[in-house]
Amino acid sequence: MILVTGGAGFIGANFVLDWLATSDEAVLNLDKLTYAGNRDNLAALAQDSRHRLVVGDIGDRALVDALLQTHRPRAVINFAAESHVDRSIHGPAAFIDTNIVGTFQLLEAVRQHWNGLEPEDQQRFRFLHVSTDEVYGSLAANEPAFSETTAYAPNSPYSASKAASDHLVRAWHHTYGLPVLTTNCSNNYGPFQFPEKLIPLMLHHALTGKPLPVYGDGANIRDWLYVGDHAAGIRRVLEAGRLGETYNIGGDSERTNLQVVHGLCDMLDRLRPDPQGSYRRLIRFVSDRPGHDRRYAIDARKIRTELGWAPAHSFESGLEHTVAWYLSHATWVERITSGAYRDWLATHYQ
Ligand code: NAD
Ligand code: DAU
Repeated sequence: MILVTGGAGFIGANFVLDWLATSDEAVLNLDKLTYAGNRDNLAALAQDSRHRLVVGDIGDRALVDALLQTHRPRAVINFAAESHVDRSIHGPAAFIDTNIVGTFQLLEAVRQHWNGLEPEDQQRFRFLHVSTDEVYGSLAANEPAFSETTAYAPNSPYSASKAASDHLVRAWHHTYGLPVLTTNCSNNYGPFQFPEKLIPLMLHHALTGKPLPVYGDGANIRDWLYVGDHAAGIRRVLEAGRLGETYNIGGDSERTNLQVVHGLCDMLDRLRPDPQGSYRRLIRFVSDRPGHDRRYAIDARKIRTELGWAPAHSFESGLEHTVAWYLSHATWVERITSGAYRDWLATHYQ
């Protein structure tokens, strides 16, 4: 079996669902169920004995030790993190606790477990750390995309905490020989994404007639990848990645935020027309995010050439699929937009 952490969140849940759709290998899912963790994301597995959700913290050493000892997974895939940049600006402490200290505790538990394995099991064991392109900082318009050798230059509390975790993972390989792999991926979108992130937030606001808040001039660029393509990339790295290596994953789909929001409005105009007029009328330019990175872009040549991975979705096909998913899963969004989430919207978008 494999141990997945953070598997009730957006990417983790997509990964677990895809894994069990294509493999019979069981998944032990350790998730703290923070505001971003959601049992509903795993509802399709309710009767599936191959999946078990354990509610707990990656920083709980006793719990992780016990899980490793009892279940003896052949791999650990670490998705667990605080993941939202704006929240990291309002309150960085949780990001330090989970992304840095939590990853450290997890690495230590895994190291102890790995040291006790038989040589054959040691050889096939993997620790895969899921990270982000934000560790590389911000690109100017004319700069080449981030490659695996781009220097780290994180700018937000979130990206700094992810950079720190990447460094720990690297050090545990070089110092202790732990068989690690790291992936650095660009912006994901798709089903089950919490409506605090750009695409689901804009969809949720448009469908409820609220303003669509575009930060600054809307010209910041992100490189978008459909979440299922990210999950496939992680599976491929787990299967054939070289130990101690990092792999950038991205969809070659750079778009300004305004292009994304216009694209969403146009799709909704077609699929769910509003008698009051185009959804574009709801767009508002609001105060910029402090320290807002201007541009991210991923050079994914290494994973493409070395491991033969390529995204199956274009941005347009992935977005169409995503919009259709949100339109047909209104209750999923409704169940999330609880009091606590409404408080966040009120504080942040005041
Ligand atoms: P998410 O916020 O949707 O989910 C995170 C999950 O981790 C939640 O289920 C949460 O309950 C769980 N979690 C948080 N703290 C925990 C802890 N201490 N112990 C156990 N579980 C804990 O995040 P996501 O967007 O699914 O991102 C998953 C991973 O992928 C993160 O490491 C993130 O940095 C990385 N990543 C995200 C993107 C993106 O665009 N969303 C892109 C590249 C990399
Ligand atoms: O690049 C990978 C990263 O992508 C991941 O590591 C992070 O976990 C993930 O949250 C994401 O970070 P971003 O900050 O790029 O994503 P977010 O959806 O928050 O914002 C995308 C862009 O849209 C960014 O330039 C800010 C802008 N934005 C965002 C929100 C929520 C707006 O203009 N308005 C908004 O209301």
